Amino acid sequence: MDYNEKVMDHFLNPRNTGRIENPDGVGEVGNPKCGDVMKIYINVKGNTISEITFETFGCAAAIATSSVATELVEGKSIQQAFNLRNKDIIDYLGGLPVAKLHCSVLAEQGIKAAISDFYKKQGIDPEVVLFNTK
Ligand code: FES
Repeated sequence: MDYNEKVMDHFLNPRNTGRIENPDGVGEVGNPKCGDVMKIYINVKGNTISEITFETFGCAAAIATSSVATELVEGKSIQQAFNLRNKDIIDYLGGLPVAKLHCSVLAEQGIKAAISDFYKKQGIDPEVVLFNTK
């Protein structure tokens, strides 16, 4: 698989790995096709993602994109984090092999799941806050 240097760097030296004990939110997502699984942990201060870590049992692209996603989101507002798209992660990495583009979706979904969990833990419907739909 032809990964560029930046992808290899994040794969070999992933940032923000591990778990947060008693996190404010946790999201677990999986890719049913390959069976890879990712967990994202967040702590929130005010309206900001103050801390974010991940555990990924998956391919090199899944690990590299998790690592980048945590970097892009740390210190950002909840809404900004929720709006992160897998395309933003791919752009930041300078591209992924076509066969690996789908792996970056896990990181986007994992962050969304962790944010939803954060609201649910407080008895708040995440849809109302994040989409203003109800
Ligand atoms: Fe499963 Fe990459 S092959 S996430």
